[in-house]
Amino acid sequence: MSSERDPLDHLAIALDTSDRVTFERWCEQYGPRVGVLKVGLEAFVRWGYEAVEVARLHGRRVFLDLKLHDIPNTVSGAVTAARASGVDFLTVHASGGPAMLEAAQQAAGQRLMILAVTVLTHLDEAALQTLDLPGSSRSRAKKWALMAQQAGCAGAVCSPLEVAALREQCPAPFLLVTPGIRLTATKGHQDDQQRVATPREALRAGADLLVVGRPVTRAPDPELALLEIAREIQGALTGI
Ligand code: C5P
Repeated sequence: MSSERDPLDHLAIALDTSDRVTFERWCEQYGPRVGVLKVGLEAFVRWGYEAVEVARLHGRRVFLDLKLHDIPNTVSGAVTAARASGVDFLTVHASGGPAMLEAAQQAAGQRLMILAVTVLTHLDEAALQTLDLPGSSRSRAKKWALMAQQAGCAGAVCSPLEVAALREQCPAPFLLVTPGIRLTATKGHQDDQQRVATPREALRAGADLLVVGRPVTRAPDPELALLEIAREIQGALTGI
């Protein structure tokens, strides 16, 4: 993604709703303006590929965020089905291991980009301890991103706080995609996301694509939020 293009090319809007009217309205409102529309579990579990079709109708690129995690044979079959729907990005969990990641990538072919989710952004260090996962979220995300790269995946999903460390070991064209984005004004407000940063911080650290849901879709003034994100992205790309 070139820095000379529209700053919102770097933005994926998370269409997290199971209300069809809202979903279609968001697709119409954001689809033509942002780089990517992200269809997540809420809409997909409700309407399956109909949700993908609506997003494809309005969006430039579609990201199907199913976070697949199963044995390699099952994941391979699911990726083959997703590929037929014409989506551009599909997520799998890196914790499925190298054989699962390789199976996903092989089933994806040349066009569909497999993104491996490293450590979910709602998990903090205490949660990792509770799960008996040793080491920091950063070292784990680095390890899993490297595994995804070696398996041939197109990229990884990580917290914006880890993106710089991952970028060092996984240079472009490996894609680094970051949810956990919060605008400066609301960064301190508590929701389920823990490892967060602003759009500017994430881009400067080396992210290619920012995933943003509630800070835009649930904002009192979504257009203002979108404008602020565009400004921050532009600032990060031009070094302001
Ligand atoms: O509303 P918010 O901006 O927190 O939405 C973040 C989106 O990114 C959600 O759709 C969520 O499922 C997704 N996501 C995430 N953390 C990951 C991978 C995906 O929050 N590690």
